[in-house]
Amino acid sequence: MCGIFAVINDQEKKAAEKTFFGLQLLEYRGYDSWGIVAKKEKDQLYIKKDIGKLPSTKPLFPSSAIALGHTRWATHGGIKLINSHPHWDCQKKIFVVHNGIIENYQLLKKSLLKKGHRFFSETDSEIVAHLFEDELKKITLKHSDKKFINQLKKTAEEIFGKITGLNAFIIFLPDFDLLLAFKNSSPIVFGIKNQQFYLASDSNALAEYTQKVYFLEDHELLIISNNHYFLFDKEKRLKSPQFLTLNVKKNALSLGKFPHFLIKEIHEQPKIINQILENQKEEIKNLALKIKQSYGNYFIGCGTAFYAALSGTYLFSKIAHRHTNAAVASEFSYLVDFLTPKSLVIALSQSGETIDIISSVKKIKEHGAKVFAITNVLGSTLYRMADYKILLNAGPEKAVVATKSFTAKIAILILLAYALKNNQENGPKNLKKAVGEIEKILKNKSKIKQLAEKIKNKEHVFILGRGLSYPVALETALKIKEVSYLHTEGFAAGELKHGVIALIEKETPVIVYNPEDETYEDTLSSAFEVKSRGGYLIGISSKPNSVYDEFIKVENCQEANLLPYAVIGQLLGYYLAILLKRDPDKPRNLAKSVTVK
Ligand code: G6P
Repeated sequence: MCGIFAVINDQEKKAAEKTFFGLQLLEYRGYDSWGIVAKKEKDQLYIKKDIGKLPSTKPLFPSSAIALGHTRWATHGGIKLINSHPHWDCQKKIFVVHNGIIENYQLLKKSLLKKGHRFFSETDSEIVAHLFEDELKKITLKHSDKKFINQLKKTAEEIFGKITGLNAFIIFLPDFDLLLAFKNSSPIVFGIKNQQFYLASDSNALAEYTQKVYFLEDHELLIISNNHYFLFDKEKRLKSPQFLTLNVKKNALSLGKFPHFLIKEIHEQPKIINQILENQKEEIKNLALKIKQSYGNYFIGCGTAFYAALSGTYLFSKIAHRHTNAAVASEFSYLVDFLTPKSLVIALSQSGETIDIISSVKKIKEHGAKVFAITNVLGSTLYRMADYKILLNAGPEKAVVATKSFTAKIAILILLAYALKNNQENGPKNLKKAVGEIEKILKNKSKIKQLAEKIKNKEHVFILGRGLSYPVALETALKIKEVSYLHTEGFAAGELKHGVIALIEKETPVIVYNPEDETYEDTLSSAFEVKSRGGYLIGISSKPNSVYDEFIKVENCQEANLLPYAVIGQLLGYYLAILLKRDPDKPRNLAKSVTVK
């Protein structure tokens, strides 16, 4: 969703160019228009906005020490040039970019209109520029006055106090060479290097310029004026930020030899699982103790992270004989009433910023229950809110659809489940075997491309699995539909007879995950039922059978089977997207980081 990037006090006077590059790094969040404002030399302003994507070749930017940019994912107001950010006040002296939704904007806009303000857009965001216009008039002190910042703080406090909803704002006052940032829920990260300052919606976008970052807390206010910054806590007391040091490798942000991030990230998976095995076993063992000490465990997540959560319930039951439940995070807010201070909720989120997760975590904390975060982003909101946490260390995931974060979560959940059982051998053994199988699949990926060729024009694709293969059937279906837009659904194989079978026609592709475990025979029966209705069967198993029209062999890795299975689904999605000429990295209408409800 919307991306924010700003630079101030840039010594090289390349603030606009750096902002453009920062916006490119935020592209993966999803957007439909963009805009940049910069202060040129001689106090002139440079403003550039456009609908659609950022140009692939960098425009010629004027030299500037301060710039503010935004990528917009439309909510209030259509995809039009007038609605793209930054927005400004009547005098074009105050600029604002915004991520979130101002719930009471209609009311505020009405009173601003009554006062004679002229609006240029249909957005909720624009009111903030006009609110500042009104209030700044009341500031009597000169910018050079020591008390100016204090007065500005009070003004900002008053304005943001009037606004309801979950939001992040950056205000640019060119006359004062000043940026002001405020957030409530939506993320803002502050980066610093040699008295040059950066603000962005996520830390990945900052890594090119600095690894020293601070994640603003809700209701904190940051004012940056040339080479000074002032951070105020939620009580508006001056605070010195505790900076974190990121560990984002620069090449993690570029494509390297790959044509798309999606295929690059699919290929990274063996390495990531191996790293988890090498570096995180002890940490996982210690965290398993926290789970053991709790009473009542729930997994929550959204999208792909929810399917990892659902896998967790099977893994914990099967391996650790522990009862857990899984819920989609957007629903969990309505399920929290049974929580007690002894409950522990395991929240899975690649970004650690998904609003549905964050809202649930707030509710969980209100009940005094504990939160255990499994996330990929150090310092993210979820990471900061959680009582216990573990990082996926999967590197930035730039393709909108999740791949490596899914398999990293599964690897951690498998190790956690074995740690709960005090068994330190089987988890690593099965994961190592799964890594070997993933490597084979990647080597022979042309076979999956051929399969994509065969099914690319079908109306529906169905995926079946039982037990542990059920969540991966759901995840594969999500992957295919997200990137190829083919109608794909995953089902518990046992549900076939309860509805789905009505949709099976001659040549309908049905993928069957059929590991040699306790589900094998029953899933095979489902495969026969599909076959008798004319379906085109794609079997994925360690054991071939003549019922399958296509067969992909995956050696049995026990409960780690779902890792190579997920990779087959990811590759199928990728090749279908390529063959159907979809953008595999930025599917239509989807956003990587869903920070508004
Ligand atoms: C969006 C993305 C999905 C992702 C989901 C949860 O919908 O498009 O790929 O699985 O958010 O994201 P999270 O960062 O919380 O794992």
